[in-house]
Amino acid sequence: MPNRVLIGAQWGDEGKGKIVDILAEEADMVARFQGGANAGHTVILGEEKFILHLIPSGILHPDKICLIGNGVAFDLEQFFREIEELGKKDISVQDRLFVSDFCHLVMPYHKVYEKMEEELKGEKKIGTTGRGIGPCYTDKISRQGIRAKDLFNEKYFLEKLEWNLKIKGFLLQRLPESEYNLLVQSCKQILKYKERIAPYLSNISMYLNDAIKAGQNILFEGNQGTMLDVDFGTYPFVTPTSTTAGGVCPGLGIGPTYIDEVIGVVKAYTTRVGGGPFPTELKDQTGETLKRRGGEFGATTGRPRRCGWLDFVILKHSIRVNGISKIALTKLDVLDEFDKIYACVGYNYKGEVLNEFPAEPDIWENCTPEYEEIEGWKENTQGLTDYKKLPDKAKAYLDYIEETLEVPIFIVSTGSKREETIFV
Ligand code: GDP
Ligand code: IMO
Ligand code: MG
Repeated sequence: MPNRVLIGAQWGDEGKGKIVDILAEEADMVARFQGGANAGHTVILGEEKFILHLIPSGILHPDKICLIGNGVAFDLEQFFREIEELGKKDISVQDRLFVSDFCHLVMPYHKVYEKMEEELKGEKKIGTTGRGIGPCYTDKISRQGIRAKDLFNEKYFLEKLEWNLKIKGFLLQRLPESEYNLLVQSCKQILKYKERIAPYLSNISMYLNDAIKAGQNILFEGNQGTMLDVDFGTYPFVTPTSTTAGGVCPGLGIGPTYIDEVIGVVKAYTTRVGGGPFPTELKDQTGETLKRRGGEFGATTGRPRRCGWLDFVILKHSIRVNGISKIALTKLDVLDEFDKIYACVGYNYKGEVLNEFPAEPDIWENCTPEYEEIEGWKENTQGLTDYKKLPDKAKAYLDYIEETLEVPIFIVSTGSKREETIFV
């Protein structure tokens, strides 16, 4: 297997967890390169449901090595919580889960700060996951972050902590005194993880480069989706990282020459959770039907996901900025009951039709999608595993997607379980 990057092509929740779980079979290692516990990747094995936030979804294969790269915002509490939950389901991470000692730590004040910031923004809030991701990366870029390795130098850690509390004082001092004191206490307590985290920390860049040179195959697991990318997404309604394929190199410490293939996970329709523009959003009964049939509720926050038709303007943008060479199309079965399916091929803005994703937020907010109508198949595809058994009209929808995007579909997912998958 080549070294593959797997990324979400829309606004996240495309079904990356399920596809990573399937492709991990062919890989030796699964590595995460950005994001943090804001992700929620669902994998269903038999009757058991796993939602992974921080640990790579490849962990469910007992023989795979899983890596968390320096580009990940690392939440110690969440990490050990997840390890415990996996342990309860007989999944051991021993000697096969490693974390970069360059990772920036999500500190308790990041979550408090984010909550206060969102409250201050009021109606203009981003609708974040509340996992402290934005403030953690802000600190990284403004060179104030605390990294995993800093846990092992207490003096340095406490100095950095003091500086951070001081500089964040403007907002944090609005907390009642008792809450502020509790917060300071919980920050100091982060040091107690020192012994527990030590066996997991290593030089992931070196480890990974050695593994690749030795012929091992790596699956790079993306989080969120292209339209949440800090550069190429619907800024400012984005996550603070490079969710696109290029994020792999700085997020793990490998060179671009080691990446062979980029897989885009595309949901057969579109969803978005949180605030921000969404041109094909359906605020009507059709949107409700997509939500009901697709079970569209956030895996991290439980919030209902906004739903709409497939948007080829964003998908073409996504194919380009990631260099997507293959598509894994998910949730085809969710469309089974529709008479007609619609595909957005342009944005009509003040009478002009735009086919390329524009940069102006005003267009995203105020355009009217131009749709092409596609016949629905009105037959059951749920659980199908054989391409030949798909209804002709469902095949026509797949052909339409491939032709419009000029990228082949190599996997079609027809249900949430591992086996409910067609390899085209
Ligand atoms: P991720 O964040 O991209 O990994 O996606 P999530 O796990 O947040 O959301 C995807 C949801 O769709 C999960 O509940 C999956 O179990 C489910 N799912 C994945 N693929 C399919 C599919 O082909 N059909 C249906 N009906 N559900 C799917
Ligand atoms: P997975 O990996 C969908 C969204 C939030 C919010 C914005 C910023 O499961 O696809 P953040 O907490 O990152 O600062 O929030 O990004 N968001 C996601 N939406 N799937 C995700 O991850 C997301 N991670 C963040 O809802 O709009
Ligand atoms: Mg998710």
